[in-house]
Amino acid sequence: MGRVITIASQKGGVGKTTTVLNLGYSLSRFGNRVLLLDCDPQGGLTLATNLKKRTDVGLINQLIGGKGLAEIVMHTKDPNLAVAGIGRLDPEDVFMLDEFAKDGRLTAGVREIAAGFDYLLIDAPAGVGGLVTSLLLASDAVIPVVLCRALAIKSLPLLLNLVRWVRDHHNPGLAIEGVLMTMFDQNNETERELGSEFRASLPPELFFRNTIPYLATFEKASVRSLPVAMLAEGQQGGKCYMDLALELKEREIARQTGVSDELVAGLF
Ligand SMILES: Nc1ncnc2c1ncn2[C@@H]1O[C@H](COP(=O)(O)OP(=O)(O)OP(=O)(O)O)[C@@H](O)[C@H]1O
Ligand SMILES: [Mg+2]
Repeated sequence: MGRVITIASQKGGVGKTTTVLNLGYSLSRFGNRVLLLDCDPQGGLTLATNLKKRTDVGLINQLIGGKGLAEIVMHTKDPNLAVAGIGRLDPEDVFMLDEFAKDGRLTAGVREIAAGFDYLLIDAPAGVGGLVTSLLLASDAVIPVVLCRALAIKSLPLLLNLVRWVRDHHNPGLAIEGVLMTMFDQNNETERELGSEFRASLPPELFFRNTIPYLATFEKASVRSLPVAMLAEGQQGGKCYMDLALELKEREIARQTGVSDELVAGLF
């Protein structure tokens, strides 16, 4: 069973879909079998990966019934990387999705999809509604994405409180993998100051060390529906997400060695 990681944010337009695509691509480069799953009714990842060209079928069709995993999981040219869309949503399907979120079928469906992969990265819709809550119920970890802007920072506790509530009441294994700051403008003094204050206001381990800078190449990559690393001029952006994937791995290893002293002691 793969690790299910939801990429979430209280605010919209902060780089969640971009993170799912580029972090997923980086993890697949390290040899992990990765599935990117679009769980946003607006179909952000479906657009970002040009999935509509290949299929209209997705998660909603699995939940309604009649479509198996083989029909919704689309393999890419890279054998380690696959993507599944949300499916074509008519207005009544959006309503159905909310129902599936409430009755637990969405959570069960996501866990089923995760089997057979090392990582399932979920592109969540913005906000802290029922859909996001049910995705957190299905997740091993969450990556809250935030811009280094005052109101974005102030709204982060809403998401962190939801994570805490889900953990306390339903899913004790849910971890905060790390808060990720994206579109960070290192040349903007206000942003730099805000960023430092923000980090100082919360436990340091809550944050990823790596931040994702604002780079025009991400926009260019989005236009071409590609991970940024696949653009000739996208090496800097690609490296940022490679570093993030490495940090994620490092955190996983640190957690494992932390809980399995006995194993480590008895290795040789
Ligand atoms: N680091 C970055 N530098 C510059 N532009 C970026 C960066 N990350 C993302 N973008 C651009 O910002 C826009 C919003 O990004 P994205 O769609 O990933 O956000 P989102 O959080 O998924 O949005 P939504 O909440 O609407 O789903 C996109 O056009 C994307 O190309
Ligand atoms: Mg999105």
